[in-house]
Amino acid sequence: MTDARQDETAAIEALLRESYGIAGAITPLPGEHDLNYRVEAADGTRYLLKLHAPGDADDLAMQIAVLDHLADTAPGLPVSRALADRMGRQSFATDIRGPRTARLLTWLSGDVWSRAATRHEESVSTLGGLLGALDRSLQGFSHAGAKRLYAWDIGRADMHLENLRFIDDAEKQAAVAAILERFAAAVLPRLQACPRQVIHNDANDYNVLLDAGGRVSGLLDFGDMVETFRVVEIAVASAYVLIGAADPVETIARLAAAYHSVNAISATEAELVFDLVCTRYAVSMCMAARQIRDNPDNTYLLVSQEDVWRELRRLQQENRALAIARIRDACGFAPVPHAPRLERWLERNAHDFAAVIRPGTAKPRVLALDLTAAGPDWSALDADGAERLIEARVAEAGADFAIGLYGEDRAVYKGDAYETGSAGARRTVHLGIDLFAPAGEPVHAPFAGKVAFIHDDAVAFGFGPTVLLEHRTDEGDVFWTLYGHLSRQGVQKLSLGQAIARGEAFAAFGAATENGNWSPHLHFQVVTDHLGLEGRMHGVGVGDHWQVWRAVSPDPSVVFGFATPASVIVARDKDFLVRERHRRIGRSLSIAYSAAPLKIVGGEGAHLIDADGNRWLDMVNNVCHIGHCHPRVVRAAQMQMARLNTNSRYLHDSLVEYSRRLAALFPDPLNVCFFVNSGSEANDLAIRLARAYTGNRDVITVDHAYHGHLSSLIDVSPYKFAGKGGEGCPPHVRVAEMPDLYRGRFRYGDGDAGRKYAEDVRRQVEALAAEGRRPALFFSEGILGTGGQLTLPENYLKEAYAHIRAAGGLCLADEVQVGFGRVGSHMWAHETQGVVPDIVTMGKPIGNGHPMAAVVTTEAIAAAFANGMEYFNTFGGNPVSAEIGLAVLDVIRDERLMHHCRTVGDRLMDGARALAERHAIIGDVRGYGLFNGIELVRDRETLEPAAAELDVVIAEMKGKHRILLSSEGPHHNVLKVKPPAPFSAADCDRFLAALDETLGALAR
Ligand SMILES: Cc1ncc(COP(=O)(O)O)c(C=O)c1O
Repeated sequence: MTDARQDETAAIEALLRESYGIAGAITPLPGEHDLNYRVEAADGTRYLLKLHAPGDADDLAMQIAVLDHLADTAPGLPVSRALADRMGRQSFATDIRGPRTARLLTWLSGDVWSRAATRHEESVSTLGGLLGALDRSLQGFSHAGAKRLYAWDIGRADMHLENLRFIDDAEKQAAVAAILERFAAAVLPRLQACPRQVIHNDANDYNVLLDAGGRVSGLLDFGDMVETFRVVEIAVASAYVLIGAADPVETIARLAAAYHSVNAISATEAELVFDLVCTRYAVSMCMAARQIRDNPDNTYLLVSQEDVWRELRRLQQENRALAIARIRDACGFAPVPHAPRLERWLERNAHDFAAVIRPGTAKPRVLALDLTAAGPDWSALDADGAERLIEARVAEAGADFAIGLYGEDRAVYKGDAYETGSAGARRTVHLGIDLFAPAGEPVHAPFAGKVAFIHDDAVAFGFGPTVLLEHRTDEGDVFWTLYGHLSRQGVQKLSLGQAIARGEAFAAFGAATENGNWSPHLHFQVVTDHLGLEGRMHGVGVGDHWQVWRAVSPDPSVVFGFATPASVIVARDKDFLVRERHRRIGRSLSIAYSAAPLKIVGGEGAHLIDADGNRWLDMVNNVCHIGHCHPRVVRAAQMQMARLNTNSRYLHDSLVEYSRRLAALFPDPLNVCFFVNSGSEANDLAIRLARAYTGNRDVITVDHAYHGHLSSLIDVSPYKFAGKGGEGCPPHVRVAEMPDLYRGRFRYGDGDAGRKYAEDVRRQVEALAAEGRRPALFFSEGILGTGGQLTLPENYLKEAYAHIRAAGGLCLADEVQVGFGRVGSHMWAHETQGVVPDIVTMGKPIGNGHPMAAVVTTEAIAAAFANGMEYFNTFGGNPVSAEIGLAVLDVIRDERLMHHCRTVGDRLMDGARALAERHAIIGDVRGYGLFNGIELVRDRETLEPAAAELDVVIAEMKGKHRILLSSEGPHHNVLKVKPPAPFSAADCDRFLAALDETLGALAR
């Protein structure tokens, strides 16, 4: 170090000591004008010392003010905090390499974006989220320093038009000129209507910090803040993070969507982002050209400008309309704004459309061809060969003609023409419907329009002669129908603007020699937005962007009205499905393993099969009780569905037979069945039955129980009403203490625990009596599910029922989770308690996944309910449900599944108890048959729940062993086991070995 440097270091260290009381080592950091230092204090704390060069006082004041503002309004944001010196000042004058202003800031950890080792999609989305949160906090911030005419404010990009002349390269100059002109003419006028505020304006790759996992951990440097259009923030950040990204539009869309999720932008803002990113590059090129003119040796600028020009060119190769549609879509706006209205118009007016071919054939029989990789190898056939094969198949099927499906992911699109700008994203998904018929077949217009575009795509495997007709709906929306592979002669007769009447034959099918070398067919497509491609509009889209392509070209099945499906559902990736679920199905519907959800497409026995063909051992699905997709149930459903499905007002043998078979599983007097559609409905009906019979209204329920999602059942489910979002216990409900033999007041070994816990039921009855009321119904499961897979103490239900009945109430056994032989020793869990309830409700396993449920009760209770008000249930007891219910009962009987549950369940619990000898974390193993709980605790004395550990176990069992499990219980520390009954001894051993390994690893 030179003497001067040593002096300077000593001066800075003295400043730190004297002004801030910090003794520490300093390391210089890069900075354009300011001197920046990392300070490492003796206690390990790090700081950022800034010695600002003299300059714009407003600018510095603004930087000080913004950190103060953010410290107050958004203390959680990862931005620096300004520290006061000993005199309480956040900045003060000093003299180090000339006069400067000193500031000390908290240190933000992480690597700058450009040098971070790990960067991925989440880096982009966390940056979007941070900027969204930042701008929300900045909404209320204003400062004189930010109200400036600033060259780096791309909201004022038009001012750079005069700098164009500094760009020497003609191609670059033309590109920048086009962008700035578009900005002035089309972007700025729309921006004027968008929100303005102070923004950071420089989330560049040196100002954004990432943690080791690649998530954004900090944002630096508020020196470029300006009051401008809010959306500029997104554009500036996008311009940096898309550098080198495989799919630049995807990157912009991801950032914008993440920003939008915390700070909602308008559809107009979403639409302007793409042009603004281009504008940022254009401004950067103008600024650089000027700076390079003033300072030709600035190699840093020359290098960074290479990135800028390369990325700008990449963006320019993107289809702008499509890019905007993708960004709109990512933010939750319709990709094509008028497409939803058009689709509705098409649906509403379908009855009025004319046939596109063969108008004389009222209901053509069509044969759908398979052009996927799974279908015939079409590429091995020439056009004639393909035509002969299609003709043979049509004849064999007795069809009028063949069709090719909309949404089909096709193997036939092989050439470069189907590449897109983005790596790995080929266009292979069919956007139209093909109609196969010999060359010369006339083509009719389904609705009136005019010839809008004519194009001769005269390349092999192109569209050949193509026409787009333009149509206008009565709501004023314009759309097009596209006709590809036409005959050249027919198209030549058309002229642009020519009116075409509904039903008019305006063109004809082309022969292979002229239609792009395909066997003769018409490609028919509906187009809501031709993306500026006009007659060159694409006929196939990118599967990964299907939601956008689907909006650009909706399903044309509506135009044809064929008797068989002419479209397929395009399989989508998990990210998309999660996003769409959140958007369209609501966030209250949870997703299993939400950090890494599964896309399950098949099931067999105790296994589920995901979209990649992996098999998962399903240990939580008691609904598909007799095994996923059991062939006897599938057959029964298919056959009855094909024969008849109607409501129960008509006489039907299956319904009566099913009620006989179901009631036969209960002792007298439980002889009458009601059929409903879900466990909740069964429990709701049970409440009505009890009220009708007893004349009382109140219900007593066991703590932590769940009995269903209807309002009436949330009321009797402490698991819900006392949990998140719950409204507390309603006045007509009383909660009895949960009989928990493991961590409750009376525990294993107390032979009288059942009676003691039932005392609380008596107390609830007495409390009611004190108010002059009596219970209508007592709810309990035979094993407490949400309570934590708890088996009941001996005599609990006997005693509890006695208290209820003494007060004139009825007793319900909720067998929705545990019924149908799962407990192994009995058909119903309540039978393990030696009681006969007044009402039993069943659901989940009853239909092996088909939505059905039932209530069984006594003739006397059913009679009291028949008070004149009809009980009608549209779907309950329909013939299909009855046949399925019968098949389930047959399989349980014929496959001896109850016995199987007992044998394998005992093996599982013996095995788990053996594991408990090695793994202290296993506090309790309980259950009957294949309904079990393994409770994890940190300490067997204090019973401290090991909930976080259980989460790790569940994640590991999934991630490493492909075993699906879940947690249960008020403390979320009980491993819940309730697999489909075909769960075998080998499955059981696999589970135990995996659990052993996982718990072993957890302990290490
Ligand atoms: C014990 C119990 N009862 C009733 C229900 C409600 O059944 P469904 O979801 O079919 O309405 C459930 C559902 O989990 C349940 O566990």
